[in-house]
Amino acid sequence: MSKRIVVLISGSGSNLQAIMNAIDAGQINGRIEAVLSNKAEAYGLERANNAKIPAITLQHVDFDDRESFDQAMIEQIDQYKPDLIVLAGFMRILTPAFVRHYQGRLFNIHPSLLPKYKGLHTHKRAIEAGDKEHGCTVHFVTEELDGGPLAVQGKVSIDVDDNEDSLQKKVHAVEHIIYPYAVQLFCDDKLACTEQGITLDGQLLPAQGYQLEIRQ
Ligand code: GAR
Repeated sequence: MSKRIVVLISGSGSNLQAIMNAIDAGQINGRIEAVLSNKAEAYGLERANNAKIPAITLQHVDFDDRESFDQAMIEQIDQYKPDLIVLAGFMRILTPAFVRHYQGRLFNIHPSLLPKYKGLHTHKRAIEAGDKEHGCTVHFVTEELDGGPLAVQGKVSIDVDDNEDSLQKKVHAVEHIIYPYAVQLFCDDKLACTEQGITLDGQLLPAQGYQLEIRQ
């Protein structure tokens, strides 16, 4: 059965766009029921409007604390009865109550090869560390920030002339491949978060998740 997806954003929403494009191309057995942003100016809301997807703004600054904001998000999101919640550049730390509520059906994308470089400034940190490769990871969200089990990774090489900006662009392009792919696998009931770990077609994945070969 087609899956119901809700996407949470804070900004440009280029990953949202990549997922919408993959749905339009028939690659994903699902549809985006709503897009929710914690920022009114997020360009991703316009992308949702253009695609005639309900676009909701719920500004965290209008709430007294994290708990009440997350509770308000849950009330909005649950109206759409989602099978999958996709964090696509949603730049808010979520409460344990929110994460538990969507356990096993909450995806995030992070611009590093987790478990390396949790948090911010991942590209700069990878360059400064002298790494030869970098990338991005789709993972299931748990209460530990950027710490949930890894589903899909895509790698890029760090070349001698790369700077933070060029590396960010390379990683972003790979995000637009691995995120729709992870959503596709989930919607086909191939990818699952189990007690034992992440499974793909019923087989337990290694800790770093499925490594998607990207031709650059
Ligand atoms: C993406 O690069 C994503 O990996 C990052 O925000 C960007 C959103 O871009 N997310 C995080 O850093 C989460 N920790 P987009 O709005 O164009 O999809």
